[in-house]
Amino acid sequence: MCGIIGVVGEGSHAKQLTDGLRRLEYRGYDSAGLVVTFSDGEMQRRRVANGKNSLSELELETSEISSESIVSGIGHTRWATHGRPSLPNAHPHLDCSERLAVIQNGIVENYAELKVELIEKGHIFSSETDTEVISHLLEDEMRTGVTLLEAVKRSALRMRGAMSFVALSLDAVGELVGFKRMAPMIIGTNGDQWFIASDIPAILDQATSFFHLEDDSVASITKSGVEVFAKDGSRSEMTEFVVDWTLDSAEKAGYEDFMSKEIFEQPGALRDTLAGRLRGSGEIEFDETSISNDDLARINKVFIVACGTSFHAGMVAKYAIEHWTKMPVELDISSEFRYRDPVVDERTLVVAVSQSGETLDTLAALHEAKNLGAQTIAVCNVVGSSMARLADSVLYTRAGPEVGVAATKTHTAQIGALLLLALKLSRIKGQLFPSEIDGLYQELIEIPSKIEEVLDKWDSIRSVAQTFSERERFYFIGRHVGFPVALEGALKLKEISYLPAEGYPAGELKHGPIAMLDKNAVVIAMASKTRLFEKIVSNIEEVRARDSAVIVIGNSGSESVIREGEYFIEVPQVHPLLAPLVDVVPLQIFAYHMARIHGEDVDRPRNLAKTVTVE
Ligand code: AGP
Repeated sequence: MCGIIGVVGEGSHAKQLTDGLRRLEYRGYDSAGLVVTFSDGEMQRRRVANGKNSLSELELETSEISSESIVSGIGHTRWATHGRPSLPNAHPHLDCSERLAVIQNGIVENYAELKVELIEKGHIFSSETDTEVISHLLEDEMRTGVTLLEAVKRSALRMRGAMSFVALSLDAVGELVGFKRMAPMIIGTNGDQWFIASDIPAILDQATSFFHLEDDSVASITKSGVEVFAKDGSRSEMTEFVVDWTLDSAEKAGYEDFMSKEIFEQPGALRDTLAGRLRGSGEIEFDETSISNDDLARINKVFIVACGTSFHAGMVAKYAIEHWTKMPVELDISSEFRYRDPVVDERTLVVAVSQSGETLDTLAALHEAKNLGAQTIAVCNVVGSSMARLADSVLYTRAGPEVGVAATKTHTAQIGALLLLALKLSRIKGQLFPSEIDGLYQELIEIPSKIEEVLDKWDSIRSVAQTFSERERFYFIGRHVGFPVALEGALKLKEISYLPAEGYPAGELKHGPIAMLDKNAVVIAMASKTRLFEKIVSNIEEVRARDSAVIVIGNSGSESVIREGEYFIEVPQVHPLLAPLVDVVPLQIFAYHMARIHGEDVDRPRNLAKTVTVE
């Protein structure tokens, strides 16, 4: 949801900004822009609003700017919230005097009332964005004679909403001032230069040390270092964190796109997520925890909150935790959890699942859970992300950076991590013997090689996608843990190929969705060999009777369920609760090929951003 980057210090140049934006593009690509300042007190702005071509065109325009004597710069890639994608709405936004520039990620919720006030004072606006309010608000404060830093501190107190922004001014050449509130923002340095950015990949090749800012912090960044201030104006500190991602892991490394690379990275991502978690017979360890096993033993209910693909991983976890611990598990879409009255108390464990650890809805749900006194755990991929720092305990997926907007490797890594959590809880609740946990862990660590077998079907799945590429509608059906897999298959297809696709519990088909079935529909049935196999076969018969095409995802020996003209994609048979780890992979590949066949950009699907830091 918008990517921001800033640089200050010796040898700063505009290409550092566009290179950083390239790695932040997954956060939005409605427009791209930057501002650089020079030691003689000049400022240059470049902006392009041409959809997915914006950044390439900005790179071209920027190449004309001389790097000599640049002292600072800020860059932005936009995912439009307030104001349609257009040049006037592209960041950075200037004040009336054109001496001050701002980039923002987030939303200034009270921007309308602030804008009215500023217009009454004579400020002239040139965009529809909430961000431009920040520029004029800072200008207004600075007119009273205060510094840029003081203006940011004062203005931040007047703005509501989750946001991070960076400002620079020709009255403070060589200084960037950043503000962070519930929207990601990190700081990095290589000794000579300091950086501020929405995410690690933006500065991964530039910085050698990385720091977090707490919420409501204001940071003044110059070539000499960073000064941080808390909401009350007192000096505060940044926290250094270690980044073990390699630059390679944030590049395409020979693949045509990030999505295919990340699909193929799944065996490694899952292996890394599972490795070394079993310490002693039946003992699963969190990465960080302030919850003791005694505290966990008192838990009588689990509540999982997440969005999108992470929600589907959470749904798999619900089945596993209930089965292995006999505790009730509730599951909620994060944006629903926070606005109802969830029944949560100190004996509830709230599990927030999020790749980014920054999704605003889930972060807010986690805050709400803490306010209600629950024990909390975050399952995140980004080390040191807001959720990881807020929750009482953290279980990291070790999938490495995921750049493709459609989550793939982090999804299977999330399921792996959540299954570990389920096993840990079952041990504490005394529901499984240590030897049973050891056995299940062994089965888990064999899953990556089973995923490799599915990846070998890359080309044959492309042929299946080609066969059905002209069909109008796609329905994914499954039972038990096959249901969240069906939901995920449908989400993947929708988000990158824009084809109408829905996931349903197979038994629910007859209660309504079956009315949609005809010869233009394709039904993809999750039919692994479980105790529900025969029931799903009956559901497939119902589909067939309505002339829809059928694709079956099943195990060896089940090929006979298909009829002439139908397709069977074989996946290895594994423990039923571990099956989503394997069964979701052909659906990811199917969605990938379908999108490519339709000529879509799989890494940058329309209207989407990878990290959603607005409500
Ligand atoms: C998945 O392909 C989507 N990009 C989206 O549904 C995503 O899973 C959701 O926005 C949650 O993101 P998070 O895991 O970073 O919280």
